[in-house]
Amino acid sequence: MKILVTGGLGFIGSHTVVELAKANFEIVIVDNLYNSKEDVLEKLEKITGKKFKLYKYDLCNKEKIEEIFKENQIDAVIHFAGYKAVGESVREPLMYYSNNLISTLNLLEVMKKYNVKKFVFSSSATVYGEPKTPKCTENMNRGETTNPYGTTKAMIEKILEDLYASDNSWNITLLRYFNPVGAHESGLIGEEPNGIPNNLMPYIMKVASGKLEKLNIFGNDYPTIDGTGVRDYIHVVDLAKGHVKAIQNAPDGLNIYNLGSGKGISVLELVTTFEKVNNVKVNYQIVDRRPGDIAENYADPSEALKELGWKTEKSIEDICRDAWNYENAEG
Ligand code: UFG
Repeated sequence: MKILVTGGLGFIGSHTVVELAKANFEIVIVDNLYNSKEDVLEKLEKITGKKFKLYKYDLCNKEKIEEIFKENQIDAVIHFAGYKAVGESVREPLMYYSNNLISTLNLLEVMKKYNVKKFVFSSSATVYGEPKTPKCTENMNRGETTNPYGTTKAMIEKILEDLYASDNSWNITLLRYFNPVGAHESGLIGEEPNGIPNNLMPYIMKVASGKLEKLNIFGNDYPTIDGTGVRDYIHVVDLAKGHVKAIQNAPDGLNIYNLGSGKGISVLELVTTFEKVNNVKVNYQIVDRRPGDIAENYADPSEALKELGWKTEKSIEDICRDAWNYENAEG
């Protein structure tokens, strides 16, 4: 079975390529290198001992997508490609709507033309908005998203639901990720955000390595275990395996699964675990809450276990160790 992985050199895409290759799928990668580096391809080949075909194309160019489908007998698509920085999306909404929506529509139109109807979409827990309960189940409504990035995820979910309603020979799986962190244990691939990181784990690593002075913890007066924000952190390798299971086991129709551990961890708990596991100090100060943040959210991952046979296997300690290993391997 041949799978087209869009954004296959990015953080989650690259780890998914590794797991797909381990499960003996044939893989074609398309990536415009906007937020990724070409040398990831060699690293993927080193980890897996396999070669991958890479198209350095932009999905906003429909003719280029057609070329890929003409040259390869694609059976299924896993769609990671897209802009993903929350703050940037607030500053540049048109860029986010235009890129994320046009690329996805182009891809779906070409798939339809070539009668390829198996699609796995990289969605996010952000579509729950401000959930009524911290534990999110898939049957909860999509909420009011708080930024254009999140809105593109919710809009694409809706587009896919409408597409399925129009033609139920499609097999569509929406995977709602919680907070992906960690890195491959080889230290060869991981997350490389541009500039000063916005997300907690990359920021912790910059502080631990002395590249940034201290972590700002956004609020310690939330109604949580220690007052700091609680999230469900998922090791990127576990997340990648969830995609393989979705390709292998998702039933016919349109499916939605949370991919998370089911366990909430506070900012302070994560900082303390990182310090303990890696024997490093992470300096921090408490500052005001960050606008748009919610107190607590975590996945109910039971549907993914029941229908896909997937659950997380790695611990928060594994996450901290592998992330730090990648940071140091990078130098
Ligand atoms: N935090 C800090 N200091 C920082 C960064 C984050 O205290 O420097 C805190 C936040 O307040 C929050 C927690 O750490 O409590 C996690 O924050 P992240 O920015 O790492 O992640 P978010 O949960 O805010 O957002 C993530 C992804 C989004 C996605 C969302 C889905 O970054 O892409 O989860 O729920 F949309």
